[in-house]
Amino acid sequence: MTEPTRHDTRLDRFVDNYSERTNGMRVSAVRALFAVANRPEIVSLAGGMPNIADLPLPDIAESMAEMVRTRGTQIMQYGSGQGEPEFREQILDVMALEGITAHPDDVVVTAGSQQGLDLVTRIFCNPGDVVLAESPSYVGALGTFLSYQAEVVHVPCDDDGLNPTALRETIARVQAEGKRIKFLYTIPNFNNPSGVTQPLHRRREVLEVCRAGGVLVVEDNPYGLLALDADPVPAMRSLDDEVIYLGSFSKTFAPGFRVGWVLAPHAVREKLTLAQESATLCPPVFSQFAIGNYLRNHDWKGQVDVFRDMYRDRRDAMLSTLHETMPAGTSWTQPAGGFFVWVTLPEGLDAQAMLPRGVNARVAFVPGSAFYADGQGARNVRLSFCFPPAERIQLGVKRFADVVRRELEVMATFGVHTSPIEPRMPAGPAPDLS
Ligand SMILES: Cc1ncc(COP(=O)(O)O)c(C=O)c1O
Repeated sequence: MTEPTRHDTRLDRFVDNYSERTNGMRVSAVRALFAVANRPEIVSLAGGMPNIADLPLPDIAESMAEMVRTRGTQIMQYGSGQGEPEFREQILDVMALEGITAHPDDVVVTAGSQQGLDLVTRIFCNPGDVVLAESPSYVGALGTFLSYQAEVVHVPCDDDGLNPTALRETIARVQAEGKRIKFLYTIPNFNNPSGVTQPLHRRREVLEVCRAGGVLVVEDNPYGLLALDADPVPAMRSLDDEVIYLGSFSKTFAPGFRVGWVLAPHAVREKLTLAQESATLCPPVFSQFAIGNYLRNHDWKGQVDVFRDMYRDRRDAMLSTLHETMPAGTSWTQPAGGFFVWVTLPEGLDAQAMLPRGVNARVAFVPGSAFYADGQGARNVRLSFCFPPAERIQLGVKRFADVVRRELEVMATFGVHTSPIEPRMPAGPAPDLS
């Protein structure tokens, strides 16, 4: 009998071939649990999927069919690496709602703002460069930064977002260590995951600190128009032309088109377009025309208002049920928009250890540590109110409160929380951690 060759015995025979940067690509520790979260008996307060069921689908279908009939050969062709010129003009009208004035030449269309994040990181970050981020910050952005081998340094936040004093100190400390800070990544509106919004005065202070420290600001704003209580606060980009701004149609229209954009100073925009061309040749042309058509021919601002009313109901259902059911010692944020509430559990509890018991109790949530690159967040949980209807949210929050109460009882009896157990459920489709 012949001996097996070395690679026959390996789980992955390409293991020596991967680039070093793949080491930064982490499999989420909670992925297996989320694979079961789509089961109908489980209320998922975990995913960040927008609820697009309220879109006027028959009207959209009709006008898209007309578009294909009349302009099919153009809209199914390759297009400009920077994005279609007419569409970039329309994007300016969207940004104007948050006080931004710009030139269409400085807009680069991307496959969702997620690709915008990738391109920005690609053109700025060498391995070992530092990216500053809020505490906590968007898991998808952290994944991108780590995949380019950047080091993420979290900046402490308070109820108004980034704390300017802590930001100044962090910049000074990192620079004194001889490291290069390439940019501050911030989500000033309804942060994912914390739901916190920076008021205008705070935005000015953060920009001032960054200017003084020579740090570029990258503003990620997919939720800005989903303000639920008041008009949107002016974007940071509206206060400073050097801010790099990321926008998206995923939450105000639909994520399946995969269309977002980056607005950047002219020289940066050149590099982004080159990076975009090497990544995809051009952003999806069909999607740009489809969204352009939607913006032109439908009452899209009225539709955003419909979304706001729907998300407001869901947010209120979540906040009132949290208020009625959560045990003492638990606190949570009061988001003025977006999709997420950030819960801080009583001292001594561990959200990750609690997740399997949550899934067994038929409620899913995201443990807070997913939103840190450095292991913080053990006592935090992200709950999303975007997808399940209000009654399901109420049910899910009640189950969640029961799980927390049982954890507290276990801790009171044994002095520590118990170790995680595996849920007895088969794996399902990939998780939605957005
Ligand atoms: C803060 C933030 N940025 C970016 C994205 C990516 O959005 P998309 O690529 O769909 O535009 C998300 C998605 O949830 C997000 O929450």
